[in-house]
Amino acid sequence: MSEHRTTLTQYLLDQQQKHGGGKATGDFSGLINAITTAIKVISNQVNKGALIGALGNYGGGGDSVNVQGEVQKKLDVMSNDAIINECQGSGHLAGMASEEMEEIYSIPAGLKRGKYLLVFDPLDGSSNIDVNISVGTIFSVLRAPEGKENPTMEDFLQPGTQQVAAGFAVYGPSTMLVMTTGHGVDGFTLDRDIGAFILTHPKMSIPADTKEFAINASNSRFWEPPVKRYVDECLQGKTGPRGTDFNMRWIASMVAETYRILTRGGVFMYPRDTKDPSKPGRLRLLYEGNPISFIIEQAGGRSITGTQRIMEVEPTGLHQRIAVIFGSKNEVDLIERYHSDHAQGLDREFKSPLFNTRTLFSAE
Ligand code: F6P
Repeated sequence: MSEHRTTLTQYLLDQQQKHGGGKATGDFSGLINAITTAIKVISNQVNKGALIGALGNYGGGGDSVNVQGEVQKKLDVMSNDAIINECQGSGHLAGMASEEMEEIYSIPAGLKRGKYLLVFDPLDGSSNIDVNISVGTIFSVLRAPEGKENPTMEDFLQPGTQQVAAGFAVYGPSTMLVMTTGHGVDGFTLDRDIGAFILTHPKMSIPADTKEFAINASNSRFWEPPVKRYVDECLQGKTGPRGTDFNMRWIASMVAETYRILTRGGVFMYPRDTKDPSKPGRLRLLYEGNPISFIIEQAGGRSITGTQRIMEVEPTGLHQRIAVIFGSKNEVDLIERYHSDHAQGLDREFKSPLFNTRTLFSAE
């Protein structure tokens, strides 16, 4: 007799019974099944890597650049194709939008349409592929306007609070799937032998306190004063105002950092900075900010721009960028307070020895 394990399929049926109020049609479960089939295809491709010629940039000599102005990897394109191929025929979608495609993707004529919109980042952290570090897929499910067969771009511009579900996969030592439908966060491990996701991390929750932060410190000279203040105080450790030593991590793969924070707490920051004033942040609101914020909040954490809850930001563009600060609640509260102190002029203009010309985080 094998021990009882809950597969994702069983989990979705249970959720449908618990939260569907007897009205569930099975459409949502069908959509999640299609998305997770794509995730298994991508996991397999990432895993095989060089064996199937999947590494390197897309487009050979003349590297192809996506709508974000970033060089596309072969696996970016393969992952995007996998999601479109698995999901467009599911019958549950009215349209899709991907970080890798400039325009929204309409369901081809002849295929059945459904009531949901799917927004996704097919391969987050893809600059890490060639160095064999964890990457992932992020998705967000929205409702299409009722009765609208052919949604337009504007229909995708819904605040994160409207999400029906959000999830991400991490292709790491194990392939993990983490998702929420607004009733907590659950984590699944892909059992490759049977090709199924198994519920291994039920009810994930983020400790409210942490001593670990993640930020790309090479941007420190461009940070705004509240972020400089926060990081400087962490770096001062036991001898500074925090009175405790902090640890720092930067994987440059948001899905991997999110997974770490869901597992042991921490704070992730890709804040607004002055590096490129035309960009109000590095990460994308619809493909990264909103789905990750939904998961973080459902696990008891917080997710803000610095001054505003990310899920309440009214989107103005499909590929809009946003400042992102999320993780352990008490730490995000503190960073928010530093932003508000700064806005009210309550902090002295932040001048830290750590940001002077002769130190590690050089300011000039
Ligand atoms: O948006 C893609 C992404 O790779 C994130 O996963 C990651 O957190 C960030 O960009 C890394 O940015 P940088 O290369 O500036 O550290």
